[in-house]
Amino acid sequence: MDVMDAIYTRKSYRNTFKPDHIPDADLKEILKAGVAAPSGCNQQTTCFIAVNDQKMVYNLAAIYGASWALTAPAAILLLTKETISYKGNSYHIHDYSAAAENVLLAIHAKGYSTTWIEGQIEGEKAKKMGDVLGVPEDLTVVIYMPLGIPDKENPGVTKKPFEDRAWLNGYRKEF
Ligand SMILES: Cc1cc2nc3c(=O)[nH]c(=O)nc-3n(C[C@H](O)[C@H](O)[C@H](O)COP(=O)(O)O)c2cc1C
Repeated sequence: MDVMDAIYTRKSYRNTFKPDHIPDADLKEILKAGVAAPSGCNQQTTCFIAVNDQKMVYNLAAIYGASWALTAPAAILLLTKETISYKGNSYHIHDYSAAAENVLLAIHAKGYSTTWIEGQIEGEKAKKMGDVLGVPEDLTVVIYMPLGIPDKENPGVTKKPFEDRAWLNGYRKEF
């Protein structure tokens, strides 16, 4: 899939998955897309764990607590650590956000669907997911992506009109 097609057609999926196993090779390619993302001062603060062990995938979905996620044959988790890199700033949130988009696009390009789940796992659920995966104390699970082949149609969300958000040669100057 062409990168522009992937960007334009990607959408969050929150529904049941087909039971097909996701091969290690596909998960590795997807994580390579994450690793390739830019990062502030090239600190590369984001780490990635792919899971296709069925028991582990199920345990993670049970912690998340949505029935559709329990049908996922795989999951990807992004981990981060605050790292001061420039003028006292930590760019770890920017780093994992850039990495997450790469991972989302790679998942979509491979024919799978997922959703960036962050707000709903922040805190206790993220900690429990980290425990399932043996994540050390100094790293935090920040994003959980249950993934697989979608089982249902996905209408997607409506985006605001392009003209309301993007301009050429000045604020509110239309293309
Ligand atoms: C920072 C961030 C946090 C998010 N957290 C969640 C979440 O906890 N649960 C969820 O279902 N979707 C979550 N999403 C997905 C958004 O709801 C989704 O991207 C948005 O509705 C737009 O839909 P689209 O991805 O299909 O373009 C999150 C997205 C971002 C960027």
